[in-house]
Amino acid sequence: MSLTRPAAVMILAAGAGTRMKSATPKVLHPLAGRSLVGHALTAAAALDPHRVVVVVRHERERVAAHVEAIAPHVLLADQDEIPGTGRAVYCGLSTLDATAVAARVAGGEVGADVLDTQLDGAVVVTSGDVPLVDGELLTALADAHVATGAAVTVLTAQVEEPTGYGRIVRDAGTGEVVEIVEEKDATEEQRAITEINAGIYVFDAATLRGALARLGQDNAQGEMYLTDVIAIARGDGGRVQAFVAPDADAVEGVNDRVQLAAAGRRLNTRIVERWMREGVTVMDPETTWIDAEVVLAPDVTLLPGVQLHGATEVASGAAVGPDTTLTDVSVGAGATVTRTHGSRAVIEAGATVGPFSFLRPGTHLGADGKIGAFVETKNSTIGAHSKVPHLSYVGDATVGEHSNVGAGTIFVNYDGVTKSHSTVGDHVRIGSDNALIAPVTIGDGAYTGAGTVVRRDVSPGALALSAGPQQNVDGWVQRRRPGTPSAAAAERAEQARADGDALSSDTQAGPAANSRGDA
Ligand code: UD1
Ligand code: CA
Repeated sequence: MSLTRPAAVMILAAGAGTRMKSATPKVLHPLAGRSLVGHALTAAAALDPHRVVVVVRHERERVAAHVEAIAPHVLLADQDEIPGTGRAVYCGLSTLDATAVAARVAGGEVGADVLDTQLDGAVVVTSGDVPLVDGELLTALADAHVATGAAVTVLTAQVEEPTGYGRIVRDAGTGEVVEIVEEKDATEEQRAITEINAGIYVFDAATLRGALARLGQDNAQGEMYLTDVIAIARGDGGRVQAFVAPDADAVEGVNDRVQLAAAGRRLNTRIVERWMREGVTVMDPETTWIDAEVVLAPDVTLLPGVQLHGATEVASGAAVGPDTTLTDVSVGAGATVTRTHGSRAVIEAGATVGPFSFLRPGTHLGADGKIGAFVETKNSTIGAHSKVPHLSYVGDATVGEHSNVGAGTIFVNYDGVTKSHSTVGDHVRIGSDNALIAPVTIGDGAYTGAGTVVRRDVSPGALALSAGPQQNVDGWVQRRRPGTPSAAAAERAEQARADGDALSSDTQAGPAANSRGDA
């Protein structure tokens, strides 16, 4: 928790993000299951600010709808047609000031002085495209700002490759920050500076307001640069402080898809290492991907090639992988999930899933149950201790406890027009290669024979059979498929049997009378 709550956090998200070359606005691209702007909102929330405002313009409706969906209490500010980060902050601050007035009016205050109300205190400005900047880093920055009593505190980083960033120009004598120069406006000498502007700041609100009013657009990009506030504030006698990020990688922005992947890899490393420190065994961190909101218990084991997405939760002692992708899946204590693709499913304690299982939304596997090899399930509950071990499809079904679904069984849930539900009781034994034509109910303790097509309900304890009696037409192949390898094979077998019969009749009284085993 920060030393003091900032008055506001402002997130800049109005830029076009052209370098992404995407139909999706840059700040809506996902990383670790969260949009880029979602990461900024999460980091902002850690400061517990009085207000959060997101500045929007490019693809305004899409960005605004997303922000409202994931953070309903956040303010939105519209940037006007004047470009640049400085203008974005100007528009954001205007919205914060208007909100401050509205709050006083709502509090019952009226009168002319109310209209002069402006936000005061610390304003943290961050970007919608720096997903590795977390609450911890923002808190350290805000605390440093309060501790030094500076008018402006800018987050900087020492990097090997400063290309593209604004450079921090310091006074050669005192080392104080004098100004920030954008790459496109920098001299050769300034471009050699390796301390860069991370684009994240804490401003005293009054200082910021005063400086923003004086920003020009006389620069290489014809934009209002927020970075110019630094030199203006200093000229006014305000103290400008730099806070050097302890980890330079953490401030890297996402401007194109190469940087998106790099940030994703770093974020994942951070998440995976955090879980290892919490007691999770990760055999191969390089091939293990865990979304930001996944929750893992101590003594979970993750084998190589595991991807855990969304709101997935894994309880203690469970083992997941190798090669398993789970999205919004709950895995119970001690369960094992091997080579499985699952989403919106619940796997209870002690259950086993896989290898090669496909759990579609609405799957609920009870404690100690089993969904085995080449089994697909959807919108189905399979009770505790029940098993679907091999080669089956279970869709729109309820299976009770301690039941077994034979290999190759299909729950036929779709008649081409409507989907229907089937119910199987407790302690049921469904034979292999059954088709359950929904809607159908199989009562407790019932059995079905192999190859049964279950079209009618089966009462408890009954045996259901639908296959007709088997008929063997002797000699059919030799007569109807003469000259084929099958016919030849059948003839050889026939000849061998005839020879055997002759031999056994020769020695009828001898000890070998039963050599063919047909007593
Ligand atoms: C900016 C800084 C640069 C710093 C870098 C760090 C300026 C002038 N430059 O450059 O010193 O090193 O960030 O990553 O501030 N945005 C708006 N409205 C606009 C333009 C941008 O809201 O009119 C938003 C963008 O959506 C983005 C953020 O501001 O979230 C930064 O904009 P971007 O264009 O990426 O700035 P950089 O050129 O990277
Ligand atoms: Ca940027």
